[in-house]
Amino acid sequence: MKDAVTPEMKRFLNRPEVMEVIKKLSPAARARRQSHPVKCDIFNAPSCQTAADPSFRFEHDREAMRLLPDIINNTVENLRVFSENDDSFQAQYRKKRTIGIVFSGGPAPGGHNVIAGIFDAAKAANPENTVYGFLMGPDGIIDHQPLKLDKKRVDAFRNAGGFGMIYTGRTKIDTPEKMVLARETCRKMGLDALVVIGGDDSNTNAAFLAQAMIEDGIQVIGVPKTIDGDVQVKDADGNILCAISFGFHSAARAFSQEVANLCTDCSSDKKYWHICKVMGRSASHLALEVALQTHANITLIGEDLADYVDYERLAKAGRVTDFSAYGMTLRHLSRVICDGIVRRAAVGKNYGVLVIPEGVLEFINEIQGFIVKLNTIIAEFNATHDSGFHHTYPTLQDKLDYLHDLTDQLKEEGGINIWNERDDDLFNDIPAFFQEGLLIERDAHGNFQFSLVETDKVIMGMVKDHLAALRERGIYRMGLTPSWVRVYLERTKLLPDQVGPVLFENWSDENEMLLMHPDIISVKMLRNALEKADLVTSDEPLPQALLDIYTKSVPQFKTQTHFYGYDGRGSVPTEFDCRYTYNLGLTTFNLIANGATGQMAAIRHLEREFNQWEPIGIPIAPLMHLEERHGKLTLVLEKSLVELDSPAFQVVKACREKWLAATTKEDPYRVPGPIHFDQQNEESRPITLVLNALGKGILV
Ligand code: FBP
Repeated sequence: MKDAVTPEMKRFLNRPEVMEVIKKLSPAARARRQSHPVKCDIFNAPSCQTAADPSFRFEHDREAMRLLPDIINNTVENLRVFSENDDSFQAQYRKKRTIGIVFSGGPAPGGHNVIAGIFDAAKAANPENTVYGFLMGPDGIIDHQPLKLDKKRVDAFRNAGGFGMIYTGRTKIDTPEKMVLARETCRKMGLDALVVIGGDDSNTNAAFLAQAMIEDGIQVIGVPKTIDGDVQVKDADGNILCAISFGFHSAARAFSQEVANLCTDCSSDKKYWHICKVMGRSASHLALEVALQTHANITLIGEDLADYVDYERLAKAGRVTDFSAYGMTLRHLSRVICDGIVRRAAVGKNYGVLVIPEGVLEFINEIQGFIVKLNTIIAEFNATHDSGFHHTYPTLQDKLDYLHDLTDQLKEEGGINIWNERDDDLFNDIPAFFQEGLLIERDAHGNFQFSLVETDKVIMGMVKDHLAALRERGIYRMGLTPSWVRVYLERTKLLPDQVGPVLFENWSDENEMLLMHPDIISVKMLRNALEKADLVTSDEPLPQALLDIYTKSVPQFKTQTHFYGYDGRGSVPTEFDCRYTYNLGLTTFNLIANGATGQMAAIRHLEREFNQWEPIGIPIAPLMHLEERHGKLTLVLEKSLVELDSPAFQVVKACREKWLAATTKEDPYRVPGPIHFDQQNEESRPITLVLNALGKGILV
């Protein structure tokens, strides 16, 4: 619809006061653009030199030694001010360079500042340095789509969210053909260095590019990006080199702000359980931080569920070990959630906030088994056929038929029983939309796309069913205050102290909450109980007030579901991420100017005050290990999961009961407030990092 703009409206729109309030740049966005994040002190010097730090040890993987021979012996590089009068160093540092930068994978707040940092440092070292951004991620390298960056474009994105300056994409340079094309682009452009800003897979890619491009004289530096927070680096002795990837803090704070608002909402009208799925493909770092920021009533942590042991089952099994007692099943998980909901209802709180990490299903044994199996089968099919699996078998039924045919074929050939009857049973037990979800197309890295599966729906479907069963058994009950009950009882002709014990199992004004007898689970049972106690006769109607009490004692489970992911990924960066990323950019340029390759730019001591941050280079190749990907053992950078002995997790575990708040006391929700800019406060860094630092040596 195209509305005609009247001449009066045109004149109105041209009024300066009107133009001022509707122009694209809000005052906040303007302030962000104009602000320059503070630099780590060493970057105030005209140049920095790298110095190898052999005190950090790594255990090299054999395959990494074989495939990455020229960068496997890289060490951690410290940066220090270079103050000597050394012409050859200065000539090398300030030589004219062409640098290409690419974003790889999902957006993460702060990415633009990495570019700004590289750009500013490059121009300061030599105004003739040129910086290019490859458009749309690694495809921009393969397809030769560079954009020359100038000050105007860089300035327009300083401290802003998203990756809009050069955009991003998920393509991986993972075949010999793509590698040839990528190298050709970089050579043609005369690149001195390529910077890959990405997550674990992209930094893996950076290592392979670094190895290959040594021949071309092109350096490759990685930068740890991902809101998931799963790029964390320690050396072989457990020394932290990179505590968290950039973007994590901003996304976690953005999610927390929303989740905290829901805590406020549900504790105001007390009628909804808000089910909040938060991003994080595998690891639950984001959910953990949200728990610490908001004190939501229940927060699931995937890694914790995987660690679950059903001791009751083990005891029953006696001396024979029952392996199914290890790890959690979907059914058991729904029971755990229901337990929290039931306990809150019993104290009159039939509302709350449940945080579910996006990747939680990956930690449920039975589902993980399916994902690994299906990943392997799909990857194998794609590798051996001209047309892809999803194209060849578009419907769920087609896919299932293929799985069965494959099983029969393998059986005939005497091979492994890849899809057995138990798989069928389990698979048939899950809802169709989830079956379909498990068979959806994998992303370019072969990863299962959890963001496309309604994880929350799968879990909550089971929770709702189980709650209904608990309600039928009179276990899911709403606690009622004695004062409220008395008001209603007094509306009948009956004596409260006579009818009270008939209705409630714990009738007493001393109790804060009254719970109806579990066997009163219908109006009929209510009548039975009253008749049995001679309080009503069979021909008289039940007093309305008693019916009201009964109705109130039966909780309705009303939910609102929310997904926090793309919104947080697109959030403006926090002050922490603005500083972190700008200094990562400065670090990156300094690594390049010192001739490094196969390194990842990082900042140590992010958990400390800013003046203690230490820019470093981390060697990528020694961090790599073999992992099963696409059904094959592949050399990759390991994803960091939530460590169950970390102080941050231990704190969440210790506070779980308190935050569930199954008591009549007020809920201890925490309001982190909106993301601030230009403000130092107690939330100037992730709480996870602060706790892990405070608890080191005490809790671990
Ligand atoms: P990166 O690892 O590339 O930073 O992306 C992380 C993430 O935001 C996950 O949290 C989420 O599961 C996934 O990307 C969503 O991917 P897509 O953008 O392809 O929907």
